[in-house]
Amino acid sequence: MKKVILGVTGGIAAYKAAELARVFMRSGAEVQVVMTPAASEFIAPLTFQTLTGYPAYTEMYTERSREKIRHIDLLSEADLLVIAPASANTIAKMARGFADNLLTALYLAAECPVIVVPSMNVNMLKHPAVRENIAQLCRHGCLVMDPDEGELACGVYGSGRMPDPVDIYKFTRAALTPKDFKDIKAIVTAGPTREPLDPVRFLSNPSSGLMGYSLARALSERGAEVTLISGPTHLSPPAGVKTLMVNTAEEMYRAVFDNYENCHLVFKAAAVSDFRPLYEKGEKVKKADAVYTLELAPNQDILLEMGKRKGSRLLIGFAAETEEAVENAHDKLLRKNLDLIIVNNLKEPGAGFAVSTNRVSIINRSGEIEKLPLMEKEKLAHHILDRAAELL
Ligand code: CTP
Repeated sequence: MKKVILGVTGGIAAYKAAELARVFMRSGAEVQVVMTPAASEFIAPLTFQTLTGYPAYTEMYTERSREKIRHIDLLSEADLLVIAPASANTIAKMARGFADNLLTALYLAAECPVIVVPSMNVNMLKHPAVRENIAQLCRHGCLVMDPDEGELACGVYGSGRMPDPVDIYKFTRAALTPKDFKDIKAIVTAGPTREPLDPVRFLSNPSSGLMGYSLARALSERGAEVTLISGPTHLSPPAGVKTLMVNTAEEMYRAVFDNYENCHLVFKAAAVSDFRPLYEKGEKVKKADAVYTLELAPNQDILLEMGKRKGSRLLIGFAAETEEAVENAHDKLLRKNLDLIIVNNLKEPGAGFAVSTNRVSIINRSGEIEKLPLMEKEKLAHHILDRAAELL
């Protein structure tokens, strides 16, 4: 989404469109605002001009610096038209093909995808005329986001609120993503495991879970049915993803194999603890115990076990290394019977645990290496999925 036209109509939620413009801009898009005449009663065009750096257009034809602005010109480079909030009045005009203001005319001329976010009083939203008009927009090919429920500006409780701008952005991104993982069942593991020593202490590692959660979200956006099996993290489960929270490596092992039978694809991004205390103390260890020797027992290697029962599944592992990263990772790929392994060298800046970026190489079975530059884990997730899609 490089160039977004944001259509704002006359409703109390119009003020939230200012934040929506910022959210799209933060994602790297250029935003051009087009307002209906009624919208400018609720929020000043200057607000949008100041935020976006472009004048917010309200009129069909206007003369500014001797430059004629026509709706077709505005659309020529647009990747997307988002209408938020979309009032009952504008929805009705769009559904019936009116072109009595710049925004409705743009809608008729648009060849890019159109996202519509209805926002209005609960009774208006329920009215058969409005329902029929929204259904008509869906038949036109518009992607319509359901309004939120909550307290409305008119004081009543119900459906009709304009959703949070970040949620509108996420809806848009998900709606526009090609569904190349449709009909694929995927397991993603994420985060650390915790191996208890006593009731208040555990062995673990600094994994944030961000890589696994980013993969789960990206897979879901691309149409997969995803089971995310996660160790303890601070992240919110991605929308539409079945998320199972586990603590220990043993719990992760059980959750993985409970879901392994029907799955086609596995991303094993969890940082599983290789060892657990041989005995878990039932009571808190006291410092008066002076010398405390910890005996460790090895945990099962979950991915190794999956590799033994691989069948026709695609298995993708991760390796965090501190030396001879590529050689060690390729050995792991062969030993665990994987299709791809994503390796990062923990000694490189910006790579590895508990940061939002990663610098990785993707290695395939024949040892070919794709070295990627430093990038955000969200973006990296889609890149890894592109590689997986080629193998599916
Ligand atoms: N893994 C696993 N179960 C374990 C240990 C690791 O499923 N008990 C998986 C990880 O999720 C990862 C891959 O195996 O996808 C590689 O993990 P890593 O810790 O780098 O490798 P290890 O096999 O544990 O080897 P080592 O610690 O000796 O480097």
